[in-house]
Parts: sequence; C-alpha cells; structure tokens
Amino acid sequence: MNKILVNTPEKNKKLIDSFGRTIDYLRISVTDRCNFRCTYCMPENMKFLPKDDLLTFEEMDNLCSLFIARGINKIRLSGGEPLARKGLIDFISNLSRFISYGDLKEITLTTNGSLLNKMSKQLYDSGIRRINVSLDTLMKDKFYQITRRDDLENVIHGIMTAKDNGLKIKINTVVIKNKNFNEINEIIEWAHKNDFDISLIETMPMGLTDQDRIDQYVSLIDVEKEIRKKYLLQETNYKTAGPSSYKTTNKSNNLIGFITPLSNNFCANCNRIRLTSTGKLFMCLGQNDNIDFRSILRSGNITELNSSIDKAMKIKPKAHEFNISKRNQRPAVDRHMSVTGG
Ligand code: 5AD
Ligand code: SF4
Repeated sequence: MNKILVNTPEKNKKLIDSFGRTIDYLRISVTDRCNFRCTYCMPENMKFLPKDDLLTFEEMDNLCSLFIARGINKIRLSGGEPLARKGLIDFISNLSRFISYGDLKEITLTTNGSLLNKMSKQLYDSGIRRINVSLDTLMKDKFYQITRRDDLENVIHGIMTAKDNGLKIKINTVVIKNKNFNEINEIIEWAHKNDFDISLIETMPMGLTDQDRIDQYVSLIDVEKEIRKKYLLQETNYKTAGPSSYKTTNKSNNLIGFITPLSNNFCANCNRIRLTSTGKLFMCLGQNDNIDFRSILRSGNITELNSSIDKAMKIKPKAHEFNISKRNQRPAVDRHMSVTGG
C-alpha cells in the first residue's frame, strides 16, 4: 500500500488549510489509556475507548505513510500514556525509515515518565531523540493529589535515566490553581539545573473530570508575574513546531515556554492535525469536526483517503473556543485530552 500512496499525483502537494496555514505536523494518540489519572485530564473512573476499535500499529503506519506522502514532516506520539501500548517500540523503529529517507524531520513523544526507567534506551534505539515529560510538581504528596498515583520518585528516576540514555528532555507543567502555582519557580529551577527546557501550560476545558475547571484554571499572565519575582525574563525568537512562546531567564541557558490557549490564543499559527488511536482525524483540539480514517483505510480506497485529507484541510476550523469563566460550565468539547493527545 505504501508504494501506491507515495506515487499518487497528490504527492508533494503541500497541505494548506482554508485559512492559509501550512499543515506539516501530525500528532497521534496511540492509546487513550493511562496509568495515571491527572485531575485536570480525566476522572478516577475514566471510561476508555473500546479496545476493539483501536487501529493496529500496521494501520497506523499505513496512515502515517499517507500523511507523510501528503506533506507531514513531523510526528509526535502521545496518549494517554503511549509507552503503555504494547508494540510501540517496533512501530517507532519501523516509522523511523521516513527519517532516513529524509521525509520526516523527527518523531517525538510525550509521556508521563512512569515507564522511562524501562524504556528510554529502547526509545533512543528506535530513533527518538527528544521527549516531553509531563511533571506538575516535585512534591510527593502533591504528585499524588494531582495524578492520583504515588509515583514521583519513579518518574524522576525515569527522567534521569532517559537523559543518561541520550534523550533530550523538555518538561511539560500544567499550572493548577492552589496546587502547583506556588511551586512554579522551584520546578523551573530544578528543570534548568538539569538542563531541561520547560513549558508551562494552561488547563483546557476538555471532557468532564471530577473537578470544576474554574478551581484549576490559572492564567499564565499571573504565573509570569510570579516568575518575574525571581527571574529576569527575556523574549526570544526561538520557535519549535508548537504553540509555545519561549523566554529565557538571567540564570540559565534553558528556556521557559508559555502555552496559553486561553489567555493568549495562538491558533493563527496552527500547523497540526491529530489522529486518535481509533483512527479519527481531528483538525482542532478544541472542536468536534473529525473524519473517520479507519473505515476509509479498511475499505482500501486510496482515492477516498486522499480526498479525505483534502476535505480535512477545508474543514479545519479557524480556532478553538475554550473558555473557563464560570462554575459548572460545560467543557468546550466532551472528549478528554487523552483521546486526541496533548
Ligand atoms: N489541559 C491542559 N493540559 C492537559 N494535559 C492533559 N489534559 C490537559 C488539559 N485538560 C497535558 C498533560 C501533558 C500533555 C499531554 O497535556 O499534562 O503534559
Ligand atoms: Fe495520563 Fe497524561 Fe492524562 Fe495525566 S495528563 S492522566 S499522565 S494522559
């Protein structure tokens, strides 16, 4: 199938959406399942997608070939917890062929860190060079309160093992009111001391959790004020494929990224689409429009696969409509972040 896709007339036609944005970045949630239950992400009794609906890794690879043939040059694997899905390493090793062909710039991964002790060497060997690790606190009791799991030491150890195994690490920290807000400067100091960049993230209203978003949300405008009590911050022009705006401090060469979906919308520069573990392509984290690529893939209709990508470009929305302004507000979308991948 791959050969056929690579030779279609659509090859090398750039993916450009109806707002003129070039789409070259695919994020895949390889599983929506997770061994943690972060309070801003999912409820303790989370209902996961039916296992029978999952794409096989072979199907995922076929879809990746299609998207790469159509102009995707960067792929991030996320979840749920991607390292918890059996067969992931073989999938990545195989997908890495596109890096050696020069079609993909890189494959990256977002993880909660709990399996890095075991898997970081395999990850490196499979072709991964950079990972994002979610870590919201360095305090054992708070870690338990946020993730509902007592796993801080294992995660820290996993991060250090990954670093020793040659992986470049960025820390992702969701800032939560009355939880880690007061700890942000210490987390930054710890990350930078270990030569990790760090991105701070505003909580987004995706899916119902057991808590009200208004009790969790804090604007990064307020967080930045807190950081400026300790650091001099300077804007940079540094850009990755992501929505972070990066600043440097006067105390290290490492960066602080600010991901501000609510306080400062960045959708004008959006360059991504997202595939779920069951093969639905979402064009926006905060909207419901999607295309079911699993059924089209299983029908084997290459023309329809290609025309569906063109359709995806036409229906990609201009922006999300996240809003957290009152108590008991319904989330902007019903699905949780773990379905479309963070
Ligand atoms: N809002 C913001 N960030 C979230 N994450 C998970 N759910 C949410 C949410 N509702 C984060 C995780 C991880 C990344 C994949 O997304 O903490 O860093
Ligand atoms: Fe799991 Fe990540 Fe969601 Fe936490 S934020 S429950 S680690 S998917």
